[in-house]
Amino acid sequence: MSPPTYQCGYCTSGQMMSAVAILRDPSISADDASVREAMSGNICRCVAYRNILAAIQSARAKMKEVPNA
Ligand code: FES
Repeated sequence: MSPPTYQCGYCTSGQMMSAVAILRDPSISADDASVREAMSGNICRCVAYRNILAAIQSARAKMKEVPNA
């Protein structure tokens, strides 16, 4: 995920691991509400959730451009 997704970076590793799992799981819908629900176990004390969601959706779009990347 590219800056300025995170503020302090404390939650980065957990957010990244969940984001990759979500992007690889075909049972999780691509809509924002489904991604938010799937990420709900990750707490970000800086409240960067909007940026994290945007980064996941951006990554999803880029993955469609380059299949099997
Ligand atoms: S960016 Fe600070 S806890 Fe998530």
